[in-house]
Amino acid sequence: MNNFNKNILITGGAGFIGSHVVRLFVNKYPEYRIVNLDKLTYAGNLANLKDVENAPNYTFVKADICDFEDMMRIFEEYSIDNVIHLAAESHVDRSIKDPFSFARTNVIGTLNLLEAARRSWVEGRDGVHTVSTHRFYHVSTDEVYGALEFDNTLFTEDTRYDPHSPYSASKASSDHFVRAYHDTYGLPVIISNCSNNYGPFQFPEKLIPLFINNIRNNKPLPVYGKGENVRDWLYVEDHARAIDLIFHEGKDGDTYNIGGFNEWKNIDLIKVMIKTVDRALGREDGESEKLITYVTDRAGHDLRYAIDSTKLKNELGWEPSLQFEEGIAKTVRWYLDHEDWMNNVTSGDYQKYYDAMYGR
Ligand code: NAD
Ligand code: TYD
Repeated sequence: MNNFNKNILITGGAGFIGSHVVRLFVNKYPEYRIVNLDKLTYAGNLANLKDVENAPNYTFVKADICDFEDMMRIFEEYSIDNVIHLAAESHVDRSIKDPFSFARTNVIGTLNLLEAARRSWVEGRDGVHTVSTHRFYHVSTDEVYGALEFDNTLFTEDTRYDPHSPYSASKASSDHFVRAYHDTYGLPVIISNCSNNYGPFQFPEKLIPLFINNIRNNKPLPVYGKGENVRDWLYVEDHARAIDLIFHEGKDGDTYNIGGFNEWKNIDLIKVMIKTVDRALGREDGESEKLITYVTDRAGHDLRYAIDSTKLKNELGWEPSLQFEEGIAKTVRWYLDHEDWMNNVTSGDYQKYYDAMYGR
């Protein structure tokens, strides 16, 4: 027993979105103990959390969600009564090369956590579990809904699941397990499905940090296909705020879509990044457009994602706080100012991955 109101396990807290969620919860809720569980794969970095590492309500545990016995031990040792689950393999291109690791971490890993929660909360230690004392929050993606055409349709919470990549198939499968644990065992669960995030601390294999870094270093910008695919971009701190709100006020067993109503065709977004970086570095406007290199399209490349987050707005009052122009300017500034962070996360096997991906 301890003096904290809640003992929250945040998985994947050393990753991109997880680190923003951990920071928000550690600073905003000194009455909660935040246990950050992360395996520290290539995508996890404790440098993302330097500013909170000594906070009295923060603990880091290095562990693998694929190890069920270890999950049981951690639930017991830290009296875990709430989970915000973000740990995952998250990159579509990697999932095409190695689907098994996505099934292991995203499906089996999620199942291990659900089962540890069920044994601790429903059957074991805690016995009584209500939404006010216990909650299993599963952070998911809009990619489970598949792809939209170039029209005005949006993904709603009722859109039929239709995943196409091994990544989205593994996330869809984990979503189904979460709902099954609610419906079968009465586990208090909640799910959110969010659109593409951008902002500080994102690993530079994803479009925005990869391209900012390459523009700075005068390296080719590998645009898949014709650059016509559309994504709906949300600033990562707005996602973290939505998670905070849904965690505290969302309805048991429910699903919420999170998105920015902010659709960009890849090539248009890339030109905005080029303009912003070139200006910041004192280059001629558009000078780095020569770096654009059209490469073979991603297999099964989803054409368009776009989220309808009306339910979250109407029921819980959430809206994105940042305009995209402001968000992208802040993001570019952050990566240009944090070359040390970039060098740190791209040491190790990064160059091998990059060369294998882009054949350079
Ligand atoms: P990320 O790849 O940056 O971070 C994932 C984290 O999980 C890393 O710290 C990694 O070390 C950890 N991890 C991986 N495997 C693990 C394991 N077996 N055991 C313990 N820890 C492990 O991912 P992200 O972009 O921050 O995404 C976080 C979550 O949000 C994921 O579940 C993802 O599906 C979801 N999501 C991401 C986006 C996005 O745009 N990035 C959008 C919607 C939803
Ligand atoms: P990404 O950041 O990988 O996110 P997701 O695939 O989950 O949407 O990619 C965003 C878009 O950018 C997607 O349409 C693929 C495209 N893309 C490129 O054109 N080149 C690249 O090098 C990368 C990483 C992505």
